[in-house]
Formats: sequence, C-alpha cells, structure tokens
Amino acid sequence: MMNKKFALPRGTNDILPEEISLWSNIETTARSILRLYGYREIRTPIFEETELFRRSMGQTSEVIQKQMLLLQSQKQSDANDMQAASYALRPEGTAAVVRSYIENDLDKKESLSKLFYIGPMFRGERPQRGRLRQFHQIGVEAIGPQSSSPYLDAEVIALGMYLLKAFGISHVQLKINTLGTKEDKAAFYQKLRNKLEPKRTDLCPDCQQRFERNVLRVLDCKNEKCKTIVSGLGLEPDWLSRDSQKYFEAVQSALSDLNIPYKEDPALVRGLDYYTHTVFEISDSSLGSQDAVGAGGRYNNLVAELGGPPVDAVGFALGVERILLAQEGKIKVTEPMLDIFFIAMGEEYEREAFRLLYEARRCGLCADMGYQRGSIKSQMRLANKVEAKYVMILGEEEMRRKEVALKNMRSGHQENVPLHNLSEKLKEILQEK
Ligand code: HAM
Repeated sequence: MMNKKFALPRGTNDILPEEISLWSNIETTARSILRLYGYREIRTPIFEETELFRRSMGQTSEVIQKQMLLLQSQKQSDANDMQAASYALRPEGTAAVVRSYIENDLDKKESLSKLFYIGPMFRGERPQRGRLRQFHQIGVEAIGPQSSSPYLDAEVIALGMYLLKAFGISHVQLKINTLGTKEDKAAFYQKLRNKLEPKRTDLCPDCQQRFERNVLRVLDCKNEKCKTIVSGLGLEPDWLSRDSQKYFEAVQSALSDLNIPYKEDPALVRGLDYYTHTVFEISDSSLGSQDAVGAGGRYNNLVAELGGPPVDAVGFALGVERILLAQEGKIKVTEPMLDIFFIAMGEEYEREAFRLLYEARRCGLCADMGYQRGSIKSQMRLANKVEAKYVMILGEEEMRRKEVALKNMRSGHQENVPLHNLSEKLKEILQEK
C-alpha cells in the first residue's frame, strides 16, 4: 500500500526558497520606511480569544459571521484554559494590537504609540486569486491621547501609498470616505434603513440579510441591481455633523498638499464595525475582483470599547500576497552568490575539505561543498549550478604538496595556493565582495 501524501491546506501557500528574496525585499523595504515615519514593530500571538475579535470587528461583520478559524484543544488535560475561553486564529492585526496596547498600559508610557506589524492572518474564506485562508499583512496602528489629528489620518494614508510605490506598485487608486463619529454613523444607519425599507425585497439575498445585520454593507454590494437601487437613493451626507465634515475636509486638504490623488467615494463603508471618521481603500485594477491591496481608517472608540482608556486611533494594513501579484514578477531580487565551492577528490581528502570549509565560513565567506562523492566533472557541474565564484579542489597531487587548487569560475584562471597561505587568500576573496 502506498503511503498517503499530504497536500497543502486549501487557501494557503508554501513560500519556497526562490520566492523568499522577494518577501525579504518587501519586508526590509517596509521596515526601513516605517522607521522613517516613526513606527516601531510589535509582535502579538497569532491566536487570541475569539471574543476579542467579535467585540472589535463586530458580530455582524462577514469575517466574524463566516470566516473565523477557531482553535480546538484535543487533550482533556489541556482543556482547562483552552476551553474556558474560545480561541481563534487572528483574522487581522488591529484588535490584537489594541488588546496589547491596553494590557501593557502604553497610554501611560507615551502620548502616541506608532506601532507596526508584519505577519500571517487567517480567514476561512472561499479561496480564489488574491483571496487566501492564510495571508500576510503589513499593518500600522497609531494609538494614543495625541492621535486625534486629521494630519495623522493623512500621514497614515500617505505612508500606505509610499510603501506601495517603494514596492514598485504605482498604478493604484485611492478611495476615501468618512463615516463620522459613532453618533453620526448611527444616524446614517437609521437613514439608510428608512430609505431602503420600501425596496428591501428587490435587494439581492445577501443584501436582504445585510439590511438586518449591517445595512451599511448594502452600499458596497457588487450586484448590479443593488448598485442601481443604491445610486437611486440620492444619499446626501446631511447626517454628518459639522465637526465631522470639517475633520474630513482637513484630511482631504492635507492629502492635496502632499499631491496624493484620491477619489471620494460615499459608498466606501468597509466591512469591519470599529471604523469612525476616515476610511480608505487602495486598489490595483490589474488584480481583478480582489483588487484591494490595502485598506484602513480611524477607529476612535475601539480602545475604550475593549476596556482601555478613551483614546483615538488610526491605521491600515496592506496584503503582501496581493502586493506580490501586483508586482507581476517585474521585481527581480538577486540572491547573494556562493563564494567558494569545495571539491574533495577522494574520500581521504573530505575531512580536510570539511575543515577548510568551516574556516572559509568563519572568515565571512559564503561557502559549501559537494557532500556526495563523485567525479571532478560531476562536482564541477554542481559548482556551476550553484553559481560559485571560486572552486577549491583538494586532490592527491595538491595534498601531497600541501596545497589546494583554486579556480576562478568567471575568468577560468587556476592557481595553486599553499595551505599556510590560505587564510590570506580567503581574506582576499572576501575583499572582492
Ligand atoms: P482588511 O480590509 O480586512 O482590513 O484587510 C486589509 C488588506 O489585507 C486587504 O486590503 C487585502 O490586501 C488583505 N487581505 C484581506 N483579506 C485577505 C485574504 N483573504 N487574502 C489575501 N489578502 C487579504 C484589515 O484587516 C484592518 N485590520 C486594517 C486596519 C488596520 N484598519 C485599521 N487599522
């Protein structure tokens, strides 16, 4: 009987060694830009109490309703604390960062905490291009008593756009909207329900449910019939308080001052409950239906609602897999080449080759050897395949003379190096780097 082969879980990816340089490039670029903007890294667990996500993202949000990946404990002995609370893999970073902000009393330590994270998130979605069950986000959250400035909304948006540009993605569209304060949002909710009530049965089945659960989501339904109904509603932002309007105007002026093009989109409401005031989405039309490369907004009530101090906050997250899709393989990152490949021409020289290999690495050179014995021809083929700059050969003749043969693979030049001069030679090679 054949042993069972295991497959990758649906909606997840292996990131193979040849792809890692693209990932590291994105992460390194992100880290250095985030530093410029004053953000510091935070790492929270990849699972948290399910209730944390329910309370923050909202019971009625699609993620909570359909996409939470819950953890289950198997062993009875583990069950104590794992069952006392329900745990879930994190579907996003914001709730976890806010939990940590509160638990670590960051408000008492700094007036504005500018935090960033890079890591995997999990949603039990129906997988398709650009939509995964395990995906990665680069996110920022600016939280604290001094975070209630429209300039910070503009800074966060500008940072998202700048990061994407640095990743080589420039043809993006930025859409912005405001939901106003919690009270404005409630008034809008009511107004929308009143206006939609007579047309309720004409809405798509999903929107009929949204009407009950979270009527704002009807605004961004992709169904043509729903779109027509929404555009016929004649919605005016008269539910928005004067202060909220002024706040949003200030965000827009700041974006214009930075020459960041944006489109105001009154139908942009975002799927998570915690947003207030500014919301935004950055999309790349080349990505097809899953075109959002990043999104975010302000969430002024969340910290207090999760038991923390009454401080405001704003943030965003970019999707790394979508960034890679948008790069369309145009970005090439070269991997560092192997400096020296060691070849032992017989079992009796392997020990010495292995020792010299260790010396070369201690010297700071990127080195390796052919562990599988073989002819010089097959070992040279291997050295070519790994694109080694030099090959060091330990053969009978060389060893008898206490030398090694060193071949420069680019020029073809070959010389014999006495073993007592080897460390000098290794230093020379290191200087070429
Ligand atoms: P979100 O819009 O749910 O917001 O996700 C942000 C980004 O993550 C999306 O624009 C997309 O690029 C990526 N993303 C989301 N779901 C998937 C998926 N299933 N597969 C691949 N990529 C995906 C948030 O998560 C908020 N926490 C953003 C935020 C931070 N708001 C304030 N602070």
